[in-house]
This record gives sequence, C-alpha cells and structure tokens, in this order.
Amino acid sequence: MDFIEQLKSSVDIVQVIGERVRLRKSGPSRYLGLCPFHNEKTPSFTVHAGLGFYKCFGCGAGGDVIKYVEQIEGISFYEALKLLAERHGIPMPRRAGYSDPETRLRAALFQMHELAEEAFRNHLQSPAGAEARAYLERRGISPELAAQFGLGYADRSGRFLLRLLEQRGFKPDQLEASGLVGRRESGGFYDRFRHRLMFPIHNETGKLIGFGGRALEDENPKYLNSPETPIYKKSYVLYNLHRAKEGIRKADRSVLVEGYMDAIGVYASGVREVVASCGTALTAQQVQLLRRHARRIVVNFDPDPAGAKAAERSIETLLEQGMEVRILELDGGLDPDEYCKQRGAEAYMEKLEAAQGYFYWLADRARARFGMRTAEEKVAGLQFLLPAVQRMNDKLERVTVANEIAGYLGVEQGLVLDYFRRAASERRESVPAPPRDPTRPDEKRLLRLLMENAEARERLLPQLKPLGAVERFATRRIFQTIFALADAGERVNFSAVHARLEENDRELLETVLLVRDRLEDAASLEQGEECLRSLLRTERQAQLGELKSRIRECERAGDITAALRAAQELRRLEKTIS
Ligand code: UTP
Ligand code: MN
Repeated sequence: MDFIEQLKSSVDIVQVIGERVRLRKSGPSRYLGLCPFHNEKTPSFTVHAGLGFYKCFGCGAGGDVIKYVEQIEGISFYEALKLLAERHGIPMPRRAGYSDPETRLRAALFQMHELAEEAFRNHLQSPAGAEARAYLERRGISPELAAQFGLGYADRSGRFLLRLLEQRGFKPDQLEASGLVGRRESGGFYDRFRHRLMFPIHNETGKLIGFGGRALEDENPKYLNSPETPIYKKSYVLYNLHRAKEGIRKADRSVLVEGYMDAIGVYASGVREVVASCGTALTAQQVQLLRRHARRIVVNFDPDPAGAKAAERSIETLLEQGMEVRILELDGGLDPDEYCKQRGAEAYMEKLEAAQGYFYWLADRARARFGMRTAEEKVAGLQFLLPAVQRMNDKLERVTVANEIAGYLGVEQGLVLDYFRRAASERRESVPAPPRDPTRPDEKRLLRLLMENAEARERLLPQLKPLGAVERFATRRIFQTIFALADAGERVNFSAVHARLEENDRELLETVLLVRDRLEDAASLEQGEECLRSLLRTERQAQLGELKSRIRECERAGDITAALRAAQELRRLEKTIS
C-alpha cells in the first residue's frame, strides 16, 4: 500500500473533522454538520466514515481527509500529509519528491520560529530578562502563567537571534522571509524585536507562526508584530485560539477581546473561551474560525472610543457570518485584563453572563450620539443602525430586531420596518443551490453497492458489464471506471475510483454516495441482484421490441431472408427469457 493510502486508512476522518466541526451521526457511517467552508444555518456538510470522504452540498467543497486539512489549514498537500502523519504517529517516508520550494521554505520558517521561541524564553530567565520579569510581575502575570503562554524576552542587542539562526545554517533568503529579522539598506541583517516582551502567536493547530512584542518602556509602537510571512497571514489568525477552541465548544460561545494581555488575563481567570483579535479589524476568515466551534460570541473590547469603533465594525462582520453577537462594555473604564485583576474573576464572569444583545448596545450608542428626540435625530439614529441590520442573514431575526429597536428607542414600528425593508432589498442573498441529481434510483443503488461491498462486486460485475443499460446511466463513466479497475485486478474502492474520474463525474460520485435520501441505508446484495434482474428485463424488452420492428421493416421492404433471420433471433431471445 502506498503511504497516502496507508495514512488515509489509519486516520479517522470523523475525528479529524470533528475537532473543528460539530458533527452528528445521521446514518450508518454518515455524519452531518454545518459546513466550515461557507456560512449556513442548516447542515449540508456530510462526512462519510467508511468512504473517508467529506462533501458539502451547499458550497461544493469535498474530498478526502488530506484535502480537508489542506482546505481548512490553508496549507499544501505535502504539509497536510505531514501534519496528519505527525499527529497520528505515522512515520513519513523520506522522499524528496514530496516537497516543493515553497513547502521547504515554510518548514524552515517553522523551525526558525521554534528556535526563536526557545531563545526568547531562555532570555526571560537570564539576567538580561530582569526588567521583563519585573514588568510581568507588575502586570500580575506569574512565572507559571508566563510559561504557559510561552512568553519570552528579546534582548537589546539586535543581533542575538540573527546569530543563532545563522549558526543553525539558515540562509539569507530564509532569514528575510521569516520576518524575525530585518534587512538594513547596507544589506546586513538585524533582529526585528529588541528589548521587548515576546508573545508567541499560534495558528489553530497550535503551530507557532509569529510573535507580538511589547515595548517595556514608553516606546512606539507599543506592540510590534511579525509581518505577514508565508506562515503568518494575519487575517486568518486569532490569538489564543489553539488553547481556547475546546473551551469555546464547552461554553458554546467565544469571548473576543482586543489585546494579548486581555486574552491572557481573561483566560487565567478561568474563561477558557477567550481569543484576541490583536488590534486589527476583525476579518470574515477570523470569524469563520470561531463559527466552526460556536455561533455565539461576546465581544468585549476596551471601553474607549477606539474600542467602541472596533466593536461596531466587528458587529457587522460577525453578523455577516451569521454569528449571534452580544456586547460587553465594562464599567470603570477598565479593559478586560484590568477588570479581572481589580474586580476578580467572578465579577468578570457575571458581567459576561449579563452581556446584552448587540442591538441594545448599538441602540445605546445611537441614543448617545443622536439624541433620538426629534424626527431628524431618529432618522439619523436609524441610519446609524442600518448597516448592522442589513448584515443580518435571517429575515425573522430582522423583524424581531426591528420591533425591539422601535420599542427601545421609542420610534414608530412602521418607520423602523420601512427602513429595514429597504435595507433588506439592497442586500443580495447568496444561498447556493443544491446540486441537481440526474441519477436513477437503480444505478444509485448499484453504484453504492459496488463501492461498498466486495461480494457484490464479485457477483454483479460480470453480469453488469455487458449490459447496454449501463450506457444509458448518468453515471456510466463511473461504472466503466469500476469495470476497468476490476479488469486490471486493482482494488476497487472509493478513493481509487474517485482519483480516476473527471471533475464532473467526481461530483456525481460524491452526490450519489453522500447525499441523504431514501436510499440512506446501505443496499443489500439481494436488492442489488433485484436491480440487476429488472435492468436485464427492461433490456430484453427493449431488444424484443427492436427485433419486432426490424421484422416489420424487412417485410415491408420485401427482404424475406432478413425478416426470417430476425424472427429466428426473436424466438431465441424469447426462449432465454422464459
Ligand atoms: P491596546 O493598546 O489596548 O493594548 O491594544 P493592551 O492589550 O491594552 O496592552 P497593554 O495592556 O497596554 O499591554 C490592543 C491590541 O492591539 C494591538 C495589540 O495586539 C494589543 O494587544 N496593538 C496595539 C498593536 O498591534 N500595536 C500597537 O502599537 C498597539
Ligand atoms: Mn487594552
């Protein structure tokens, strides 16, 4: 068996996908969940354990477990192989053919980051790290907590990491691509991070991909972050997600804060579902990362104008992605980290539980900003609320919110609804249509049986092959592929057949095998044989009809010999039927 087959057969696709997608069993070896690749409210994402395959009938995403890892992590085929092999303790064959220059570069960058993290950590413990340690103490971060979050210190020299990486044999182009060092005009390199407290940033899988570095003195910028690199794409990353994802599922919600310190402080208070956006505007991709674990979210940004503005923008993105949004604005001008430290974990959790739906928060902002007393003010306020409403995916939700807002702001309901209706007509609905299924029940049943049952293949294939009916199936090329594999003595299974098909037929195969319908349960061999018999019957009927009309034609044309030959054939056929 080749390595890829071996990997696929030893990895449980349901478990791998289940780490990020809530799946529920919907058939003998079929699971169903909300698609992680597009925004949907009713599940059309199917995972078939037996076939080792997933398919979304909403957006069309589909493939085997390797493809899934490629898609969800945004990595190459080779990296997906490697990731799966590592996680399942399967040794990778040493074959250079697997890696391309880009993959090799990324592998080098991962190594450099691991080295950097270790070096930063050691520095924090060294005499040079005294200032950084004192800073952590001032901010109430214990050495244990610092260790848990991998905090470190980059010294003042501007050279130590560079030296280390050069010693380890990394080349200039790798150094430059890492974002860990900068290049001078003169051509030389220097450490990007100097005299800063270092926060390692991981992707959802827990791989180290970048750093945030906080100045220890009043310096600009306060936080210096890794630049975009081949392994660090800011818009796809949320700080602390790899630690929080379990908590997000358990709590069935996430808590979104702005800063590194907030995430650490809140997490340490026992709120395990906290992630940070780290100062950048929240992106659709970041929301999608969260949505796979829970739809509910509490946004808890800093209680300052910048935080409020960021929260407003986040609400729009979150609603667009179908999230259920609540907003927490802490009193006393405290940010989440300070609040946890000053008022305690319990007080913070109470605040979280009491967080209100986003439109109350928005309405408060509208009221504060526009007064909402005169007609003009009311219109201005509604206009302010409109973008959020416009981004609501659910019609019913829009109406409910319209009513609540009307009540809350003391505006006539009609006016609000009128506004909302106009907003609704302006937004485009983009619900993907489910794929059309051109297949007939019998071909579907046969195909499923042939793919899933070795005995059925043995019994049915010889009879099926010469059957003209197969030529009329929408799935004929799939059948032909199965025939060809069987003839060549190769293994017939889903991935072998799938790999040999053209795109259209792949889709068809996926549809036939994964779509839920009345044929949900695996067909039995008896059913298969019954299908075959009925196909044979129709085939014979067709042949009989054809012969009869041939005889008539020959008679009409006066070709008696031909008519007699056809009549003979007809009798032979009738005999075999009876
Ligand atoms: P804040 O200025 O609120 O930082 O920016 P903070 O988390 O409260 O930091 P402390 O408590 O003073 O240490 C929020 C987040 O925005 C990003 C960082 O991710 C920060 O945590 N940020 C801020 C930057 O990336 N660069 C900056 O210069 C400032
Ligand atoms: Mn802050």
